[in-house]
Amino acid sequence: MEKILGIDVGATGTKGGIVDLKKGDLISEKIKLRTPDSKKPGDMIEVINQLVQAFEWEGKPVGMGFPTIIKDNKCWSASNIDESWIGFEIKREIELAANCPVYVINDADAAGLAEMKYGKGYKQKGTVILLTLGTGIGSALFINGKLVPNTEFGQLKFRDGVTENFASNSARLAKNMSWEKFGNELNEVLKYIDFIFSPQMIILGGGISKNMDMYQQYFDKELNVYPAEKFNNAGIIGAALAYKKYTKK
Ligand code: BGC
Repeated sequence: MEKILGIDVGATGTKGGIVDLKKGDLISEKIKLRTPDSKKPGDMIEVINQLVQAFEWEGKPVGMGFPTIIKDNKCWSASNIDESWIGFEIKREIELAANCPVYVINDADAAGLAEMKYGKGYKQKGTVILLTLGTGIGSALFINGKLVPNTEFGQLKFRDGVTENFASNSARLAKNMSWEKFGNELNEVLKYIDFIFSPQMIILGGGISKNMDMYQQYFDKELNVYPAEKFNNAGIIGAALAYKKYTKK
């Protein structure tokens, strides 16, 4: 059985679990720690290391989803975390701190990989988009099952800001939106993305994908929107999968 520790780092919580890649599921409890308020590298790496220790995982493989553009094992954006992450050698520093081999991928790309292999996107051809609705909006774009990484649809210009200012879960909470209001706002963002990419399917992930029956009635009928089958665990499962998929043996 192939077991990899999956870690999903968000701007609010840092979650982990041991993933069985055959089943595409967690085979341990899920541990969730608070992401430190400073959101700076030193503090966040300490919490990631605490997770590795909690699972007694030193020396063993770790796949990690992280809420920034990830290219060449470094971070290249910082929408909801401290700016000092930009240019940061994330893979190297976590390997040094936690003493394990690590693969790092954008958090939404990780969730997308999990849904394409074990969930709603299984065997789905054409263009598939997954959006995660949490502190921000994350995105993953697949063309015939192949990931186009780091798409950042949450940063698309929208009204006087970017899409994640209007339809993330944190926007819903901050503006005290009813489900109807939220459904309508999200519908505008979905229509915008649908107009650009004409996807076959849009999958919604993140904590509030569980509540989709509260707001899906406000979506245009032409949009083909489904909740992620792995719900909020997709990020952890996909991070572990990314380690296997992209780490050279
Ligand atoms: C970040 C993305 C991330 C998303 C979800 C956005 O603010 O720019 O990189 O995937 O939040 O965490």
